[in-house]
Amino acid sequence: MRKILEAICLTIALSLSAYASSADEENTSAIYDSLSKQYKPINKRNVWHHTMFKLRREVQAIAESNNDADTQKWVSRFSKDYKKIAKMVPIWESELDLINLKLLENAAINNNKIQVKESLKEIKRNCRACHIDYRANVAAIFRAPDFSKLQLKNHKGKDQSYKKSMIQLTEQLNRIKIGLIEKNQEKSAQALTELRAGMQHLEDSCSSCHKDDEARQFYLGAKSKKLLDDLQTGIKNNDDIKDIGHTLGSLAVRSCARCHGVHRIVYDITKDRKNEKDIN
Ligand code: HEC
Ligand code: HEC
Ligand code: HEC
Repeated sequence: MRKILEAICLTIALSLSAYASSADEENTSAIYDSLSKQYKPINKRNVWHHTMFKLRREVQAIAESNNDADTQKWVSRFSKDYKKIAKMVPIWESELDLINLKLLENAAINNNKIQVKESLKEIKRNCRACHIDYRANVAAIFRAPDFSKLQLKNHKGKDQSYKKSMIQLTEQLNRIKIGLIEKNQEKSAQALTELRAGMQHLEDSCSSCHKDDEARQFYLGAKSKKLLDDLQTGIKNNDDIKDIGHTLGSLAVRSCARCHGVHRIVYDITKDRKNEKDIN
């Protein structure tokens, strides 16, 4: 009898937890769908993000205002924008502090500065709570640069995946060093030619996201070209392996590691989350 009871309890517990997790998944996907309408490419602008900037400005204006009429104006603007959160993402209505919003509105109408300050403090606590739960994930999913669909040309001019090109760049970089250690000048020189071509294709691809030239210059511009020239001269002249190695290291930091610090870390962290639409 006890065994049967235990089995029944276990079945109920399991189906409840299955129910909870499928409800969670439904929520996550509803949040994702609502938010995607507030971000590029579905929306023309990143409306959600811009609404957040407005909220911050309005909160500041209310806090700094020492004129009752201005306070009322700012509170009414703020109230409209704050409620937009629930219009944009209906499930997040429960995340809002509508009680303190009402208190804030009444306090502004009654010119009650102390109550304005008090309710604003509570509302800011509410902003923080939502940010702790969701801010980084939403920014990662909807605003982080996406490298998954980019293609680069290889040294024969054929398109291949970004990842494959990256692996080849590393192999070319390493082959230069291997050639130096083996005292095989030709191997190093050949690898350097291929590396140069690969880096040129990489440079051409920056413009798919960066409209201006400055970003590209930072990792792959004149300073990086000078290092490539120095390497070529060093290999040709059979310079001391330590000196060439030093130049090679500088190139790897300037042209590879720095870009990885900005793009690859973020991409690595976000790509799975994005694929799984995982906002929670
Ligand atoms: C846009 C700036 C950028 C520059 C410049 C850059 N990389 Fe990358 N690299 C990336 C990104 C983004 C990824 C992640 C690609 C992916 O996982 O699909 C990556 C991934 C890699 C990987 C890992 C590939 C794997 O197996 O997952 C290697 C190795 C690599 N890069 C080497 C290099 C080398 C060597 C250079 C310099 C000659 C370089 N990268 C320059 C952005 C850059
Ligand atoms: C229901 C959840 C939620 C609430 C409530 C909320 N935010 Fe946000 N906020 C977010 C999310 C998600 C992001 C990340 C958006 C992005 O980076 O694209 C964000 C980002 C921000 C940013 C970041 C802008 C930047 O520097 O990139 C500011 C500022 C901001 N919110 C202000 C506020 C203020 C002020 C309030 C309260 C009055 C508030 N938010 C309430 C979810 C919320
Ligand atoms: C898929 C889009 C994408 C590609 C391709 C890309 N970037 Fe970026 N890059 C960004 C975004 C977006 C930022 C802003 C920071 C962030 O959100 O990670 C950025 C930031 C930077 C920065 C920091 C300064 C700034 O302008 O914000 C530099 C420098 C930079 N990228 C250089 C490069 C170079 C060089 C390449 C090509 C090798 C490249 N990027 C390729 C999207 C991209």
